[in-house]
Amino acid sequence: MRALPRGERLLLASHNAGKLREIADLMTPLGVETISAGALGLPEPEETAPDFAGNAALKARTAAQASGLPALADDSGFSLAALGGDPGVLSARWAGPGKDFGAAMLRVHEELGDNPDRRAWFSCALCLAWPDGETATFLGRVEGTFVWPPRGTNGFGYDPVFVPLGGTRTFGEMAPADKHAGSHRARAMAQLMAWIGSSKEVFLF
Ligand code: IMP
Repeated sequence: MRALPRGERLLLASHNAGKLREIADLMTPLGVETISAGALGLPEPEETAPDFAGNAALKARTAAQASGLPALADDSGFSLAALGGDPGVLSARWAGPGKDFGAAMLRVHEELGDNPDRRAWFSCALCLAWPDGETATFLGRVEGTFVWPPRGTNGFGYDPVFVPLGGTRTFGEMAPADKHAGSHRARAMAQLMAWIGSSKEVFLF
């Protein structure tokens, strides 16, 4: 287990504006100063791992080694039961090089066709990496339903087509604070916080 000295900056190893905004929001209560990979001009590594945890570790390690700072990476995605978990780790790639999530959501809608199974979930792996390669990974998931057509303009990515279990509004229709109350990313962050809280040996942040 490792310390992140008080006053040390934490590098957010992502180039996704939506994720950066949410992670910075979720970090606010900790009073941690964050800086983004884009601001340091770091390249985005290729996501070659088969799962969220592997890709998060790859991104966090690469950024920590390149910058000499502790780095936090998020790998996340949207899954449909009826599509065997797709798009999953390929969620960003379904939007193509132009990052067209309207097209990605339409592709999900078309691949589902008239399948009545609309079960969907978001997954998130957060990986904290230190420049020497040590890592700690935290997972979060939120279950819900795929809805069509898309609704709402908040959030990012697949938010307009996902209603969490027990809710009526899509993530795209929710205020950020309501999404943070139970999102996959907030749940992974809660694991990270719990880990920090349970650490008796070191003081993080
Ligand atoms: P990656 O982790 O960089 O591979 O990209 C994950 C992709 O999953 C994002 O580009 C989004 O399309 C999607 N995604 C992850 N988290 C969310 C979320 O909270 N809302 C909507 N889409 C998300």
